[in-house]
Amino acid sequence: MKVAIASDHGGLNIRKEIIALLQELNIEFVDMGCECETSVDYPDYALPVAERVANGEFDRGILICGTGIGMSIAANKVKGIRCALAHDTFSAQATREHNDTNMLAMGERVIGPGLARDVAKIWLTTEYQGGRHATRVGKITQYEQNHN
Ligand code: RB5
Repeated sequence: MKVAIASDHGGLNIRKEIIALLQELNIEFVDMGCECETSVDYPDYALPVAERVANGEFDRGILICGTGIGMSIAANKVKGIRCALAHDTFSAQATREHNDTNMLAMGERVIGPGLARDVAKIWLTTEYQGGRHATRVGKITQYEQNHN
């Protein structure tokens, strides 16, 4: 699996935590910033990661900002992206099993580093269940295809 990760200035510390996790799990990744010496705009980081997941360059993307909300809104504008905003392990597991999410967003002002790590680990290691869920995910894909 190849993962792209990015944050804005509000998500820098959890990004570092998740990079350490990716290294421990031996998962190939590319860190797409930010350098975060000043305040930056989260869409400038969310959209390039989402586009590179959507075009198949990466299998998954992880985004962190202050709340995770701006990052998830931006990522979900890119066709083919299903980005989950998740701050608990139940949601992290369910969104992989049911929604086949290819991106995860978290907020550093919402969640601590330990829980963020657990959320990301479960999200990275849980398989999609398919079956009845595939019908539902397929309806989202179909909508995207029919609406530009
Ligand atoms: C930046 O101040 C903050 O708005 C951003 O990190 C994020 O929370 C946006 O949704």
